[in-house]
Amino acid sequence: MKVTVFGCGYLGATHAACMAELGHEVLGVDVDPQKVERLNSGELPFYEPGLSDVLRRGIDSGRLSFTTDSAEAADFARVHFLGVGTPQKKGEYGADLRHVHSVIDDLAPRLHGEHLIIGKSTVPVGTARELGARARLAAQPDAAITVAWNPEFLREGFAVDDTLHPDRIVLGLNADDTDTRTESIVREVYAQILDEGIPFLVTDLATAELVKVSANAFLATKISFINAISEVCEAAGADVTMLADAIGHDARIGRRFLNAGLGFGGGCLPKDIRAFMARAGELGAPQALTFLREVDSINMRRRAAMVDLATAACGGTLLGANITVLGAAFKPESDDVRDSPALSVAGQLQLKGATVSVFDPKAMDNSRRVFPTLNYANSIVDAARGADAVLVLTEWNEFVHLDPAEVTPLVRRTNIIDGRRCLDRKAWETAGWTYRALGGTPALLPTVTANTLVRG
Ligand code: UDX
Repeated sequence: MKVTVFGCGYLGATHAACMAELGHEVLGVDVDPQKVERLNSGELPFYEPGLSDVLRRGIDSGRLSFTTDSAEAADFARVHFLGVGTPQKKGEYGADLRHVHSVIDDLAPRLHGEHLIIGKSTVPVGTARELGARARLAAQPDAAITVAWNPEFLREGFAVDDTLHPDRIVLGLNADDTDTRTESIVREVYAQILDEGIPFLVTDLATAELVKVSANAFLATKISFINAISEVCEAAGADVTMLADAIGHDARIGRRFLNAGLGFGGGCLPKDIRAFMARAGELGAPQALTFLREVDSINMRRRAAMVDLATAACGGTLLGANITVLGAAFKPESDDVRDSPALSVAGQLQLKGATVSVFDPKAMDNSRRVFPTLNYANSIVDAARGADAVLVLTEWNEFVHLDPAEVTPLVRRTNIIDGRRCLDRKAWETAGWTYRALGGTPALLPTVTANTLVRG
């Protein structure tokens, strides 16, 4: 099949490359000529494991290319995916739909005959219906434009796998539309994936839009739940990691997304829960989602708690302190620093008088753009020189498995602070370090029997 994908960011570029991998002919469209040029030469403008190979395979096969020209896209295909960003509005909770609107305004008048626009961006409920009306209003007399919604659930770091082997595919259709062609077209696009037996759920437009934001709200709530519990654990001297293991064995609860620590960030969860609250208010259900305010504030409190922990480790003041921050991306296996908890903590520490040295395996360039005044080191060793405290704020593998003996000779004081509860406390303490963890110090039990008994 021939398809276009509007928007070539984390979502759109991944979708375009994966659609070519499925054998479709794909034209990616973006307003940024530099991004388009890089993609056409097989170079990814961001880091995503495995995606470079998929992109190159697509380009080499001749099935994948990119353009800034929406007229070319209008002629190229009858199926158009919409994967542009929906960031938070400045100074407001709601989502900024200007990119989504501009694709429709640009594309719709150029279409002739029957076309299907399949939205993938995360949007406030009601947007898809509104976009359908907007497209039809701008359409030529000989054009018939349908808008359907097919939310994307991919995680950065696992984007290729999540796109090619998703947990489910959700398709929202206009309930007034009696035509079954849209469903057939989408089934054809995803035929290979559906052959694997992936669940395919057809809903109305509003439900499909809400599935996405509800899923993200649930995940954010799960993380803030365990972080709230970690505050109690810390006060009571209990171990939140063992607690998460124990409650996670209950299949109704599940262990995933119960990792306490510095909390969530990134380009999705924070802005999506805020846009969801704003939309509920607009719809006249303002009380329904007030709990998400608490989810948000528990999450932001983790960053302040991390700053307090670092201040305590430096003897009560950050003035004159050298702090090493390991991790800047909002999570490992990504170079994305949008609303990164790690960078936010690094920035706060600097504002309070510390000299902060940051190292991240992939996110250095993006970090420099957002926080140009922090010091950026070339390696862990470079970052750790003269440190009064070393903070692990993103759980990259090379930080998790860092050998304390490697950094001991470099630092001024042997303080390690585990912002993601991912380090081996015993190893660091044995090497002579003072170990602190966000959410309370994990228990060191005298034998492994207690754990074995509980987990067994
Ligand atoms: C999220 C959703 O998972 C995905 O389905 C949706 O399409 C987009 O938003 P992503 O933003 O890539 O994906 O990251 P995710 O893996 O969900 O992690 C979000 C944040 O939560 C990260 O900052 C991560 O460090 C944090 N997190 C995650 C925790 O603090 N604890 C956990 O147990 C899990």
